[in-house]
Amino acid sequence: MSQPTPAPVHKTTDVTFRIRRFNPEIDSEPHWEDYVVPCYPTDRILDALAQIKGDKDGTLTYRRSCGHGICGSDAMRINGKNRLACKTLVKDLDVTKPVTVEAIKGLPLEKDLVVDMEPFFKAYREVMPFLIADGHEPTKERLQSVEDRAKFDDTTKCILCAACTTSCPVFWTDGSYFGPAAIVSAHRFIFDSRDSAASKRLEILNDKEGVWRCRTTFNCSEACPRGIQVTQAIHDVKRAMIFQR
Ligand code: SF4
Ligand code: F3S
Ligand code: FES
Repeated sequence: MSQPTPAPVHKTTDVTFRIRRFNPEIDSEPHWEDYVVPCYPTDRILDALAQIKGDKDGTLTYRRSCGHGICGSDAMRINGKNRLACKTLVKDLDVTKPVTVEAIKGLPLEKDLVVDMEPFFKAYREVMPFLIADGHEPTKERLQSVEDRAKFDDTTKCILCAACTTSCPVFWTDGSYFGPAAIVSAHRFIFDSRDSAASKRLEILNDKEGVWRCRTTFNCSEACPRGIQVTQAIHDVKRAMIFQR
């Protein structure tokens, strides 16, 4: 018996990707280059970048690791918005005109779509993003009620992609602002009932480059690929500073 012919899944469409390129060894300024790539509607932008790198220009440089929205390494500006290339599908973009792809803003550009993440991680380290529990070691685990766990559930989802911080106009104008991602990481521990260093973290974020620089523009919440209510987390931290938790 003959096998049934599988139905065609989808047709490909030629999509133009306009990529902001920069090679510090030969370019004095970044410039745009166009690449036409046949894409399925369900292709991710990361797939298109891989096609360009594999078939058209092996020098194209970008970061990726997991390919599935977990590692946070491929945040970039796609059609002017910060997104993860691995979670953005061709069918969700207007492909009747060129799709622009560029590095996230506000961090030093190293090459093509790669930025220096060190200023971002410096702010992250400064808020002490780890549990600090004082003495009285329990014989088993440190217990926590369901209600207490819920207080910081949202901010546990952060993957440190920097999409929020690099979409923030305050951070663009002054890179010394801690930025929303560092505040989200601090929030995760400030509201953890097992942690004993909340007041220290609040003191750090009360700095002139801390939470009071936020102008509540909500770009960070819109950019977060994990759906974290970033602006709400910043608001929670501001309230905790006023009322000391
Ligand atoms: Fe990325 Fe969201 Fe974490 Fe910001 S809060 S670093 S956008 S996952
Ligand atoms: Fe920036 Fe988000 Fe505040 S975009 S100004 S940190 S609400
Ligand atoms: Fe890991 Fe996109 S490659 S989040």
